[in-house]
Order: sequence, then C-alpha cells, then structure tokens
Amino acid sequence: MNDFLREYLGMTGTKFGCGAAQCLSCAIIIDNPDGTSYTSPTCIVPAASFNGKSVRTVEGHAKDGELTPLQKAFIAHFAFQCGYCTAGFLNESQVLLERLARTPIARADLEKTIAEALDGHLLPLHRLRQISRGGARRDPGGSNAIPPKQLKMTIDLQIPLFIVAVAIPAAALTAEAVSNTPSDGLANIESFSSISDQEARSAAYFTELGKVLTSPRCLYCHPAGDRPRQGDMARLHQPPVERGADGFGLPALRCPICHQAANFGTVPGNPIWHLAPREMSWEGKTLREICAQIKDPARNGNRSLETLVEHIGEDHLVGWAWAPGPGRQSAPGTQKQAGALVEAWVQTGAACPKP
Ligand code: HEC
Ligand code: HEC
Ligand code: FES
Repeated sequence: MNDFLREYLGMTGTKFGCGAAQCLSCAIIIDNPDGTSYTSPTCIVPAASFNGKSVRTVEGHAKDGELTPLQKAFIAHFAFQCGYCTAGFLNESQVLLERLARTPIARADLEKTIAEALDGHLLPLHRLRQISRGGARRDPGGSNAIPPKQLKMTIDLQIPLFIVAVAIPAAALTAEAVSNTPSDGLANIESFSSISDQEARSAAYFTELGKVLTSPRCLYCHPAGDRPRQGDMARLHQPPVERGADGFGLPALRCPICHQAANFGTVPGNPIWHLAPREMSWEGKTLREICAQIKDPARNGNRSLETLVEHIGEDHLVGWAWAPGPGRQSAPGTQKQAGALVEAWVQTGAACPKP
C-alpha cells in the first residue's frame, strides 16, 4: 500500500520507515462506515487489503491551505524533529480526537489516553511529552470531561478531509504475486560450446553473467548516485539514506540500524550490509562498460580476475541476491552458476561484449 500511495498516486506524505510494522511512520487512517476510524500501517499491508475502504492520508488534514488545529498545535509545540514520523502521529492523533469527540473521557484520564493511543509510534520520548501537551491544551479548561461540542469546534470534523475511494488497478493487486515468481535461470557453461571463436565465447559468458549484474538485487547496491534503490519500481531508498564515507550510511542513519545480520521480515539482512563504493556503480551503464570496469583494479577494489570468480561465486553479501527474503525476485540462476560463468569468462581471456 505504501508503494501504491507514494509511487502510483505520487502522494509522498505517507512515509516509509522500518518496513516491518514497528515504527508506524507509514500509518494512515481508515474510516469505518459507522463513523469510527482507526489507523493501519501501509508498509506490510498489501494495497489489495484496502480495496473498497475509505482512507485518509496526511495530505487530507489541511483544508484549502489552512492547517487543522491539530497540525497547528504540532507546530506550536515543535512536536517533531526531522518530521519523518509526523504524518503517522498526526493520523493517530486525529483518530484519537475524533474518538474523544464521540466518547468524552474524564480529564484525569487524558494524559494516559493520549500515551496509550500514540504507543507504538516511534520517536524520542521528550517529543512525546510535547505532543501530549499539545493534545492536552485542547482540554477546554478545568471541567472533568471534555464536552464533545467544544472538541468538535477545535478539530476539523468537516470530514471526509481526504477520501480516496480506493479503486486499485489490477496491476497493483498482482504486484506481490509477480515479485514472487521464480527467477529466470542462467545458461549452463556447456551450452556455449557451439561458439568456436574463443573471444566471442568469452564475451558470451559475460553477456549471460550480465543478467545477474543488472538484476535489481545487485543494481540496487551498486547505484549511480549516493542512495540505494528499493522496491519493484526501483525507487530511491526510503527513508532517505546515503552512502556516507564508508558505504554504511551517514552517522545518524547507519545501515545496520535497520538491516540486521539476517533478513527480518521484508527487511534485507547481512552482517556487513552496505553500499558498494561509487566507482563500483553499474546503474545506467552498458554491459560493455561494466565489463571494462569490473576488470579494472582501480575500480574493482583492487581485485585480480581470479578473486572476482570467488567474489561473485562465494561471497556472502553477494549471495544475499539469491536469498533476498519474501516479496523479492532473486537474482537469476544460482550463485554457483554465476561463479562458473565468471570462471569460464576469465579462462577464455575475459573478453567484453562488443558495443
Ligand atoms: C530506517 C531503516 C533503514 C535504514 C537505516 C536503511 N535501510 Fe535499506 N531498507 C530498509 C527497508 C525496510 C527495506 C525494504 C524495503 C522494501 O524493499 O520493501 C530496505 C531495502 C534496502 C535495499 C533494497 C534491497 C533490494 O534488492 O530490494 C537496499 C539496497 C538497501 N535497503 C540498502 C541500504 C543501505 C546501503 C543502507 C545504509 C546506507 C540502508 N539500506 C539503510 C530500511 C532501512
Ligand atoms: C548489500 C549491498 C550489495 C549487494 C546486494 C550486492 N553488492 Fe556487490 N558490492 C557491495 C559492496 C559493499 C562492495 C565492495 C566490497 C569490497 O570491495 O570489499 C561490492 C563489490 C562487488 C564487486 C567487486 C567490485 C566490482 O564492481 O568489480 C562485485 C564483482 C560485486 N560486488 C558483485 C555483486 C553481484 C554480482 C551482486 C548481485 C548478485 C552484488 N554484488 C550485490 C555491496 C553489494
Ligand atoms: S511501520 Fe510501516 S514503515 Fe515502519
């Protein structure tokens, strides 16, 4: 659903954080027909699950450029730092306000109710306090219960603020199934024996290997810019991480914060998960260019051709591409087959495909 909102509809107010239903920065509001509402993460919930439902995203809070009292309170109390989690908080708080408007509670229970409602949304604790103060200020002073009428005036109940009658294109519904289809295979070494010219055969091995090198699983970590890519549509990584000095990210958002030693849910994992250096980028290059670059010690991490065989055929990080976890198509063939192709390519003179 997160992809559907952000990539298909271009509505980027909904964020993508942990990707594992842990941070709720991706939460949106779902409106029940009976007037009640609740929030749901969008990262792990398929778009199909929202079919036929009325949803509200953060884009729908302000009306004609006028922020809601809730949004103004967030700003007045500086209830965010980088703002990444704010959309999720706003949605959750909006749901709470509407609930309180329907069912008032005793003043004494307010702080606890706010804390409970926002529980699960990740952000530093002192901000949470500021948010609850923003919320508590809404208490119209002194009385034990918040009269629904007054609450109604302070929050914008002119809802639906923003309703997408979710008519999801069939393509979006099948996206998951498509990405789960088995990967295409790789041709075996023997099948090249009919090419008698050694140089042509060598280049043919590399062209076959190219299916692996240019597969999303390898390309996303060998990007042209400073950001990895993600997802079926090769979007730039969300949240916006950058390679940093050592490929492990900038100091504030290091790759291992989210990428654990092994795959976790839909989050890829490896003990040394990080980006290939800039000079090893393959994105946007022709196979011939990649071939020249991969042979060049100045641009391949000072590797001999023999080490390349081992690197592609056995390296554990490279191997992740054939065990990428749920929802991702693995690199073509097997790692062993890819290693055999590199070996055959090297033994036949490591020729590059002709332009
Ligand atoms: C805040 C959490 C977070 C941080 C920090 C993070 N990632 Fe990710 N990353 C994710 C999640 C979640 C996914 C899975 C998204 C998806 O594909 O649905 C992901 C996916 C990826 C993918 C896509 C893999 C594929 O082939 O589909 C790459 C590549 C990647 N991250 C690289 C990095 C690198 C490199 C860093 C550090 C510079 C980094 N990430 C930091 C959360 C994070
Ligand atoms: C998680 C990110 C990540 C993924 C996924 C990944 N790589 Fe890399 N790759 C790296 C890093 C980091 C280096 C630099 C390692 C070094 O030099 O020690 C690298 C270096 C390489 C190199 C040597 C340098 C060069 O460009 O000649 C090759 C070859 C390579 N990777 C192949 C692959 C192949 C093939 C795949 C997919 C099957 C792949 N990689 C997937 C991160 C990744
Ligand atoms: S809970 Fe969905 S991105 Fe964190």
